[in-house]
Amino acid sequence: MKYLDFKHHFIPSSFQQTNPDDIQKQIAKDNRSESWTLLLLHGTGGNEDDLIPFGQMLSPYVSLLSPRGKILEHGMPRFFKRLSEGVFDMEDLKFRTKELANFIKEASIAYSFDLNKMIVIGFSNGANIAASLILSNPEIIKYAILFRAMVPFTPESPPNLSGKEILLSAGVFDPIVSKNQTESLLNLLQKSNAVVTLKWQQSGHNLTENDILVSKEWLSGKIHL
Ligand code: MLT
Repeated sequence: MKYLDFKHHFIPSSFQQTNPDDIQKQIAKDNRSESWTLLLLHGTGGNEDDLIPFGQMLSPYVSLLSPRGKILEHGMPRFFKRLSEGVFDMEDLKFRTKELANFIKEASIAYSFDLNKMIVIGFSNGANIAASLILSNPEIIKYAILFRAMVPFTPESPPNLSGKEILLSAGVFDPIVSKNQTESLLNLLQKSNAVVTLKWQQSGHNLTENDILVSKEWLSGKIHL
C-alpha cells in the first residue's frame, strides 16, 4: 500500500459503526447512504479536516475519505504546484493526479469501499485536481461535485465520460474563476459525454449555504441522504 502515505482521514459510515452485524450490511442497498463514500478534496491552505463537517452536513451516514494535498505553497497545502494563480505546473499536475488516483484505488481496497459508489467533493484547488482525475482517470470517478472549478488541462482529444455525472457549482462574483473558465469546463465535460449540471451561486470563491442546498438536491437524486 505504497500510495496510502497521504495524510488522511477515513471515517466509516456511522451506520456501519453502530450496526456492524451482517444483517445491516445486507440491507445496505445501492441507494442507502451508508454504502456510499464521499472523497473530500480541500482548497489551497486547507487540510484533511476542512471538509469533514461539510460532508457530514451533506449526509450523516456516508463514509468520508479526506486526504491532505502534498504540496506546500508558502506553508499552505495544495494538491499540485502552480506557477501563479490559475497557471498550473503541468508536469506536477500530471504526476500528482496519478499519485492521487493510486491513493484512491489503494484506499478503496484498504477500507473496502466501492469506487462506483464514491462521490468526489472538491473545492477550488481540490475541485481542479478532481477535474484532472476525471479527465485522465475516468475509470475511478463516476460522480463529482466541483465547487469553483476550472479546466485543469486541455486533453488532446475529449475522453469518454459517458456514465459520469457531475455537478458544477460556480460563483457569479468569483474573482479567481471567471465565467468563461466555468463555461469552458462545462463545454469540455459535455463534449466528453458527461451529464453535467451547472448551478450559479450569488457568491464569490467561498462556499455558501446555497452550495450545500444544491449539493443535497443533486445527491438526493442518487442516494437516500
Ligand atoms: C488553483 O490553484 O487550483 C486555483 O487557482 C484555485 C486556488 O487554489 O486558488
